[in-house]
Order: sequence, then structure tokens, then C-alpha cells
Amino acid sequence: MLVASLVGARPQFVKLGPIAHAMQDRGVDHKIIHTGQHYDPDMSDAFFRDLGIPDPDEHLEVGSAPHAVQTGAILSRLDPVLDNMAPDWLLVYGDTNSTLAGALAAVKKHIPLAHLEAGLRSGNRRMPEEHNRVLTDHAADLCLAPTDAAMVNLVKENIGHRSRLVGDVMADVCFATRDRVLNKPVRIDDLAPDEPFVLATIHRAENTDDPERLTTLVTRLAQLPTTVVLAVHPRLARIAAEIGLDLRQGALHPVSPLTYPGVVSAVMQSQGVVTDSGGLQKEAYLLERVCTTLRTETEWPETLVSGWNVLSSSAADLSDLAARSRPSCATSPVYGDGMAALRAVGELLDAADPHTRVGSFGVGKP
Ligand code: UD1
Repeated sequence: MLVASLVGARPQFVKLGPIAHAMQDRGVDHKIIHTGQHYDPDMSDAFFRDLGIPDPDEHLEVGSAPHAVQTGAILSRLDPVLDNMAPDWLLVYGDTNSTLAGALAAVKKHIPLAHLEAGLRSGNRRMPEEHNRVLTDHAADLCLAPTDAAMVNLVKENIGHRSRLVGDVMADVCFATRDRVLNKPVRIDDLAPDEPFVLATIHRAENTDDPERLTTLVTRLAQLPTTVVLAVHPRLARIAAEIGLDLRQGALHPVSPLTYPGVVSAVMQSQGVVTDSGGLQKEAYLLERVCTTLRTETEWPETLVSGWNVLSSSAADLSDLAARSRPSCATSPVYGDGMAALRAVGELLDAADPHTRVGSFGVGKP
């Protein structure tokens, strides 16, 4: 069986890590197609290197562009690649423009489509990611859900019969990396080893694209009483430069995007996290650090239980939130046992011909 993984953006490389290893373990012929949505070495190559992922078999080199143009470019460049490769499955990851383009390409060519991290919903229809994930789930032959809540969403949308709960591959890679860096913490550039800090990131369009909102968020971060290590996504760097926003003001300590071991280690060394990233919210939860999420909603509602994660769209109360202590209730193992990737690959093998299996696996009725 030949499975082609389509990835293009940073969070997808993280999810690809455990999947690539599980494919190897199960002896599956696995090819990797990189769309080129993220292309800076520290947004892409570093993840392949640090997570031991084989080099991509194909690179579409689409680069940055407005959403529709970027999605369209991936779609048209993917077509001949899929013709040549003729995979038994196209596996797409998460909620980016690369995910949606892959989903469309597969259904147009009648290639069985599987979606990893299916069933997440923010309910916010202004987010490009929300459309990407909903459309992909409904196009997919097999939805691989990370959590019970995701599974419930899929059932509610009448696609439970094409869905399977496998757990969260991000827990697989997060726990494995935690164990790797536990005794050799990755140092933050130009920061004293014992300096306490909060780790922060901002990159979502809804936070970066309105100059007034971005300025408010950055100013509130800069006013925190603790050092704020700000890992600067290229979108933030570009927009801050365009609007003349100083990312070195006050408590801010800007650094380049972190490697994956770097981010896991930074979360573990931090007093807490402030972010709008879906992945980082969850890493904070898995690594038992408090998180403040600069959004009105989250696709990971489990992190909100007991106050490990708190939503603060305006960041008005950031000084209290960032300094809060850890909840007395422990985190729970809602994201699985670190074996999700093996389960996901097992599901692909079991359902090798999904067109004969539709309606026969998972919960719910078509
Ligand atoms: C994308 C995903 C988002 C994910 C995020 C992780 C979509 C709609 N969004 O958002 O779900 O959380 O990736 O980072 O797909 N840029 C560079 N170098 C790079 C990559 C990007 O300079 O290697 C700059 C470009 O100016 C680009 C901007 O960052 O225009 C935004 O990149 P893009 O891929 O459009 O979306 P992200 O904000 O990264």
C-alpha cells in the first residue's frame, strides 16, 4: 500500500514526524509531498531534521500568496504529482490551505482521502482554518479524530460513519520530545539560564492583520512584569516592520521561530504560555504549564477544563492571567497515550479500500 502525506506548514511537519515513523514501523510505502507553503529553513527544514523525517519526495514550491491563489497553486501543481504517484491514500493534516488543496485534488481524482486531526471546530467562520477543516472532513473518506469531542462533532455532522478515534499524534511527538530534552534544556538566545520568562507567540490573521489590535496585544505583552520570550513568526515580523511596531519594547525578548525541541524545552522552562497557536496551547497543557490564549474560542476545549488554558481575546487581563499559578486539578490524558500515529496508520491499512467500506466503520450512520 502506498500512502502519500501532503504537508506544507509548520504544524503539519510536527504531526508528520510520528506518522512517518509509524509508517516505517508498519512497513508502509510512504511518500511525502511538501507544498512549500512554509519555506523558511526555520519554519520547515529544521522540523524535518529534528524529527527525523525523510526528505520530501516531491516539492511543489508554492510559497506565499493570498489564500485563494496559494490554495489554487497547490491544487494545480499537485495534479500531475498525484498522477505519477498514484497513491492508495492521500493523507492530509490539520487545517491549513495545504490541507484543503490536497482534499480537493484527491476528490477530483478519486484518490481515497484521509484527514488527520479531523473533527476540530472553533465555530468561528471568519477563520480560514475553520473552512479548511470543515470542507476537508466532509470530503474525506476516512476522518482520523484526535479526541472524543472531535468525534462528537463528526457524528453531529453526519460523518461519524467515516470517522475513527485514534488519539492525538501531537501528544505522541510532544511526549517523545519532552523525554529527549528533559535533561538537556535548549537555551533561549541571549537569555540568562535562570531568568524566569513567559513564552509568547502571535501569528493568526485575526490578531496580526488589524494594526490596532496587533499593537494592543504586543503592548500588553510588553507591559508584563516578567520577561516575555516572543518567538516571532514571519507573518508577525513582516507586519510589525510594515506598521513600525517595536518587538523589542518593554519586557519583550524577541527570538526567531523555535525548533520543535526548542519549543518543548522553552515551554518546560517557562512560567506559562501566551499564544494564539492551536498547537502551542496543547503543548502547554501536555507539559503542564498554564496558557493564556489570545482568541475568542479554541478547537481544544479540553485544555480549558480546570483553568489550565484561559481564553483572553482582548488581553486586557493579561497581567493577572500570565502570573496565575497552576491549577490544583491535574491535567487529564484526553489527548491519548502517545500511540496515536500507530493507530492512525493501522486504520489506513484496515480501510485500504474506503469506497467499499464507507458506512461500515466508525460510529453513527450515514
Ligand atoms: C498557516 C496556517 C495556520 C497555521 C500556521 C502555522 C493557513 C490558512 N494557515 O498560517 O493554520 O497555524 O500556518 O505557522 O494555512 N512566511 C514566511 N516564511 C515562511 C512562511 C510564511 O516569510 O516560511 C510569511 C509570508 O509573509 C506569508 C505569511 O508568513 O505571507 C503567512 O504565511 P501563511 O502560510 O500564509 O500562513 P500562516 O500565518 O503561517
